[in-house]
Amino acid sequence: MKWIYLRHKTDEMSSKKILIIGASGQIGSELSLKLRDLYGNDNVIASDIKQGTAELMNSGPFEIADATDEAGITAIVEKYAITDVYLMAAMLSATAERIPMKAWDLNMESLFIILNLAKDKKIEKVFWPSSIAVFGPTTPKNNTPQTTIMEPSTVYGISKQTGERWCEYYFNQYGVDVRSLRYPGIISYKTLPGGGTTDYAIEIFHGALKDKKYTSFLKEDTALPMMFMDDAIKATVDIMEADAEDVRVRSSYNLSAMSFTPSELANEIKKHIPDFEIAYQPDFRQKIADSWPGSIDDSTAREDWNWSPSFDLKGLSEAMLEGLKKLTTVK
Ligand SMILES: NC(=O)c1ccc[n+]([C@@H]2O[C@H](COP(=O)([O-])OP(=O)(O)OC[C@H]3O[C@@H](n4cnc5c(N)ncnc54)[C@H](O)[C@@H]3O)[C@@H](O)[C@H]2O)c1
Repeated sequence: MKWIYLRHKTDEMSSKKILIIGASGQIGSELSLKLRDLYGNDNVIASDIKQGTAELMNSGPFEIADATDEAGITAIVEKYAITDVYLMAAMLSATAERIPMKAWDLNMESLFIILNLAKDKKIEKVFWPSSIAVFGPTTPKNNTPQTTIMEPSTVYGISKQTGERWCEYYFNQYGVDVRSLRYPGIISYKTLPGGGTTDYAIEIFHGALKDKKYTSFLKEDTALPMMFMDDAIKATVDIMEADAEDVRVRSSYNLSAMSFTPSELANEIKKHIPDFEIAYQPDFRQKIADSWPGSIDDSTAREDWNWSPSFDLKGLSEAMLEGLKKLTTVK
């Protein structure tokens, strides 16, 4: 039985042709490398409006493409006979507040192009990330449930919540196999973050190693849900690999690993760098953070497709410091 299952999985994997849109970004760059490991370099086409890291550019096919250019994206899908699309291009929370209409256009247009390609049967499966930004000030703040009040107050959150509604609609009306996760703040060291409200939790590690100090743009007691990159990639691969009938939520799944405040993170860093100092100078991003949950209940993802994270605050801090030190030595 086991052998038959494995053969089935292997056949399925080798017939996959994957397109990642927004592959040069914080998550896309690491996701692309992981997918190339799993499905073969030539079966994973990375694309973005800008070039990515040397590792991304040299490990497999890459196309310069604009996620809002329907003809351009369709041409790439046809050229490579793409089966699965991971749509990672978006404008993130902090940047989006500065140019709301541009954020809306990018985040929505790119999603409709991909959902319609799936509706027209030109592709088989779609991954589209949502965010904890779908929640708002009226949402229960602690252990936020899968289904609850959602009145987002940022343009980013409004675009993600609208996207979730459309994903579910395309699944119900047209049978589109779209899968989605509400990522918390994703922490990583290989690529810089792209203009989100949780970026402080990455910058702090750079500050700690370089200057032994950091000024946080969020208040010391602002708790937010966070996750190490490896867990985010694992969750993304797991939900895309899950059997379709196990993916019961077709809007987007709550996803959680840990929750911490800037002062808790600073204390964890001090265990490694005892003379590290943190100061606080909240800016416009404080208001965005205040509208988001402090912690997330992800029991539905755990029940439906066995989600389980591996990194806690201690593991994340060790991995970040070790990873950044290695990168500096290599340079
Ligand atoms: N990083 C996080 O903490 C986080 C949290 C929640 C949700 N998300 C979501 O995950 C996805 C990826 O986020 P990220 O952190 O990697 O973002 P990022 O900003 O680091 O990367 C986005 C990439 O999209 C590309 N891009 C922008 N406009 C484009 C266009 N018109 N056409 C093609 N590419 C374009 C950018 O060049 C960039 O490389 C986004 O949908 C984001 O909303 C991220």
